[in-house]
Amino acid sequence: MPKLLKVLISHVEIDKAVERLASEITRDYRRKNPLLIGILKGSFVFMADLVRRLDMPLEVDFIRLSSYGSGTESCGKIRISGKLNSQVEGRHVIVVEDIIDTGLTTSYYLRYIRGRKPASVALCALADKPSRRKTHIKIDYRGFKVPDKFIVGYGIDFNERYRNLPDICYIE
Ligand code: IMP
Ligand code: MG
Repeated sequence: MPKLLKVLISHVEIDKAVERLASEITRDYRRKNPLLIGILKGSFVFMADLVRRLDMPLEVDFIRLSSYGSGTESCGKIRISGKLNSQVEGRHVIVVEDIIDTGLTTSYYLRYIRGRKPASVALCALADKPSRRKTHIKIDYRGFKVPDKFIVGYGIDFNERYRNLPDICYIE
């Protein structure tokens, strides 16, 4: 059964936001050789666009977190799968997320990373859905605030579909 998709944020607006985030990060990290850790799979498109706008030495790594299963609700149970190859101790870490919804997944991971003694930790999220937050979380670099709708595209999925859409859309 095909779903009805409506564009919420066009690729042109996404481009501008990524440019803005990249200049904020450049301003703050120019000489810090940051380690950007992308949360898979949702962050892969965002990460690819973001790092190409960061003109400075940096490293990229990815980790996989699962909380959603195949539904649309965070269940609060988070599993880290896949191993980070990078050394975190002493590094300036930027965690790169697709969307912060309840915040449970990301705050779990931020706690985990802080336990590995980084020099600093910041959070960069493409989208923020503040209406559904269940825990306090500080987003240092935020692309968009989005309404309480289920969004897809630009790396973000619904049951593994729609990650390839260039725009951020919502499902009606
Ligand atoms: P949280 O733990 O509720 O903040 O959920 C975090 C993760 O759930 C995000 O990184 C996404 O992978 C997924 N998620 C949350 N909201 C949406 C949405 O609107 N569309 C697709 N995935 C979502
Ligand atoms: Mg995610």
